Amino acid sequence: MGEKILVTGGAGYIGSHTCKALKKAGYEPITVDNMVYGHDWAVKWGPLIKGDILDGPFLDQVFRKYEPTAVLHFAAFAYVGESVTNPEKYYRNNVTGTLSLLEAMRRAGCNRMVFSSTCATYGVPQKLPLTEDHPQAPINPYGATKLMIERILADFGVAYGTGSVCLRYFNAAGADIDGEIGEDHDPETHLIPLIIHAAMGLRSDIEIFGTDYDTPDGTAIRDYIHVNDLAAAHIDALHYLQSGGATTCLNLGTGVGNTVRQVIEAVEAVSGKKVPVTEGPRRAGDPYALFANAVQALDKLGWKPQHSDIKTIVDTAWKWHARHHGK
Ligand SMILES: NC(=O)c1ccc[n+]([C@@H]2O[C@H](COP(=O)([O-])OP(=O)(O)OC[C@H]3O[C@@H](n4cnc5c(N)ncnc54)[C@H](O)[C@@H]3O)[C@@H](O)[C@H]2O)c1
Repeated sequence: MGEKILVTGGAGYIGSHTCKALKKAGYEPITVDNMVYGHDWAVKWGPLIKGDILDGPFLDQVFRKYEPTAVLHFAAFAYVGESVTNPEKYYRNNVTGTLSLLEAMRRAGCNRMVFSSTCATYGVPQKLPLTEDHPQAPINPYGATKLMIERILADFGVAYGTGSVCLRYFNAAGADIDGEIGEDHDPETHLIPLIIHAAMGLRSDIEIFGTDYDTPDGTAIRDYIHVNDLAAAHIDALHYLQSGGATTCLNLGTGVGNTVRQVIEAVEAVSGKKVPVTEGPRRAGDPYALFANAVQALDKLGWKPQHSDIKTIVDTAWKWHARHHGK
């Protein structure tokens, strides 16, 4: 049995792919998930302990039983729109939940965490590509919760010696390269699965919000990063902390953006199907482009995306959805 690593939210999309990578790297992933959004079928590489990170006594039991040496912390609510209409739910689950987890870690003497942060902590970009030192001014409660957690981790590092790596993901996308697991959010709000659903006839169409941006085809640009590449970065971050690396925050993106239309075209090319599209106005608060400078992740972790070209992302996602929906 390998060293045990606690994975909160390990039954979710990115957490489950990371559990597979952990197992492959010789660790034993211990998933803690309250199953609000998790899937039993996604937990294949270690035990699933059902419970909530807000529940301190439950966490104490888990730490006592498994004695994990580090925590990969994915558990959170992540619907931006809902965070605007129901911020209480987000501050409680994401911020209070993380505090509860950090307190349990301190009681157990576990002092390493890799945390799922986000490019949403930057808010509207003043300069592209986004570097880690870009001002952080989130424009919704979801992004604010993640920024607060980054601050908590920085302060815990100074005061208590908790070592952490905050990984600021750009747009997680794609499915396991071997096809074993994939993305299944309900409700789904991410662009690539929504386009795939439209191509499969599972929804009537895909709406493009804004076709008059200052981009090559007028549609917004985002930086899509393959979920297997995100998973690999967590293993690298774990190794970094284990070898004494200092607390840090790193972007995880490709540095190359794709427009909404380019992603639609990629789905049409992979599937051979026409995607029904409707064009709508810009959405308030949507920046015209977001893409990362991820040089620091290369410098500090030696991490580089391997599967994040748009064709591989869409191809793996399409195959997964086709099997998952029996198409
Ligand atoms: N998907 C993206 O593009 C993206 C981008 C940036 C950051 N992130 C962050 O990455 C993390 C994982 O995202 P995902 O897309 O895999 O989401 P997901 O919803 O698939 O996974 C999150 C998991 O956490 C669990 N969970 C939530 N609250 C919990 C609690 N209080 N106790 C125990 N379990 C709880 C859910 O049941 C779910 O299985 C999140 O923190 C998210 O904010 C995601």
